[in-house]
Amino acid sequence: MNVAVIGSGGREHAIALSVSKSKLLNKLFILPGNPGTGKLGTNVHIDVNDSPGILNFCLSNSIELVIVGPEQPLIEGISDLLRKNGIKVFGPSKEAARLEGEKSFAKDLMKEYGIPTAAYEIFYKNDFEKSLNYLRNIEYPVVIKADGIAAGKGVVIAENYQSAKSAVEECFVKNSFGIAGEKIVIEEYMTGQEASIFAITDGSDFILLPAAQDHKRIFDGDKGKNTGGMGAYAPTPFVDDEILSQISQKIVIPTLKAMRDKSANYSGCLYCGLMLTHEGPKVVEFNCRFGDPETQVVLPLLDGDILGLLYTTAKGKINKNAVWYNGGSSACVVAASAGYPDKYEKGKVISGIDNVENDELLVYHAGTSIKDGEIVTNGGRVLGITSVIKENNLKLAKQKCYDAISKIYFDGMQYRKDICDKALNLINK
Ligand code: AMP
Ligand code: GLY
Repeated sequence: MNVAVIGSGGREHAIALSVSKSKLLNKLFILPGNPGTGKLGTNVHIDVNDSPGILNFCLSNSIELVIVGPEQPLIEGISDLLRKNGIKVFGPSKEAARLEGEKSFAKDLMKEYGIPTAAYEIFYKNDFEKSLNYLRNIEYPVVIKADGIAAGKGVVIAENYQSAKSAVEECFVKNSFGIAGEKIVIEEYMTGQEASIFAITDGSDFILLPAAQDHKRIFDGDKGKNTGGMGAYAPTPFVDDEILSQISQKIVIPTLKAMRDKSANYSGCLYCGLMLTHEGPKVVEFNCRFGDPETQVVLPLLDGDILGLLYTTAKGKINKNAVWYNGGSSACVVAASAGYPDKYEKGKVISGIDNVENDELLVYHAGTSIKDGEIVTNGGRVLGITSVIKENNLKLAKQKCYDAISKIYFDGMQYRKDICDKALNLINK
């Protein structure tokens, strides 16, 4: 079949790589893709948010399956548009994508169905004074979230009233997040290890892929600003069989049921961002798509046929035996531009990629482009240097990853040195 992957990041490079190995594949297109995906299929210069352009392309190239990478087009309803035109889509409908697009929707649904998550209150823009009053009478830290999607910048962990107040002002007074910030969720601060788990689901049945751990802060030791994710590894030893079963029973099954009850059947990848608290796993957030960089470490750990999994899911009856965990481990370190997650420069020449790629080492492109025949930086997160080994040995996976990244260079390159360490500390305890 002909397949189109929508997106241009490391996540889409990883999806394209797995799909490119499928026997079911005829032609692979990536819209718009990046220099990495260009080696696996045909990149097509159509923006991820250009729904009519994507539809036209799919109709004129006999695309049988579209795999949507980023959340924005899903939240805006690309799946519905393509399905209406007879094209199969891996990704939820607009109504189902509200689980990511409207935090208050997700929180209310979890409350209604008893799904474990942080306690919370919702406030609207005209509740400004009421929200401040609330903040004067609670314990800190507290977490303040813009309701809509805000490119990873809409979440503030406030240590005291003053910083909570300025977070609320960002949303309600300065309108920094536009409509996304006209409603906010103020929620309890949870502690524990974080884990990301992907449920691939047709809305009723599902499989869980190996659990990963992301590293959201820019600096080592989880210091500094939140980013899209500076590295990940899988599988994470923090999620054992008992926790996995709790995730299925207490989170995934009731969430899918809730969505069916609301006539918003959820099909695609349900990304569960979890806090593993002493009371058990609780939901930090749901995303309506694969995670980035988690996908870069999770997909290479699957044997079988990923396209078979995604296609049967999109058709409405998931083949749960299409893929299985191969017993290995994987670590990904993101090489980012100087200044990221704030302002950064582009166009820096990248060297060393070809010298490090081998059977156990992948270099995913995230923010790169080609200029005068050279690979140059073109984003905040530039590359995902990823080791994939056959044995479940995170220490070795980490070592291979860092050996490789030390041979890659671009002006201002920054990366975290402690990806995998939480897991290694647990294992060495
Ligand atoms: P989100 O965009 O909702 O994933 O939030 C970004 C990051 O903020 C998460 O990965 C957590 O590290 C942190 N965070 C969000 N909500 C909470 C919470 N209720 N308690 C503790 N940390 C949180
Ligand atoms: N790595 C976090 C996310 O994909 O949202």
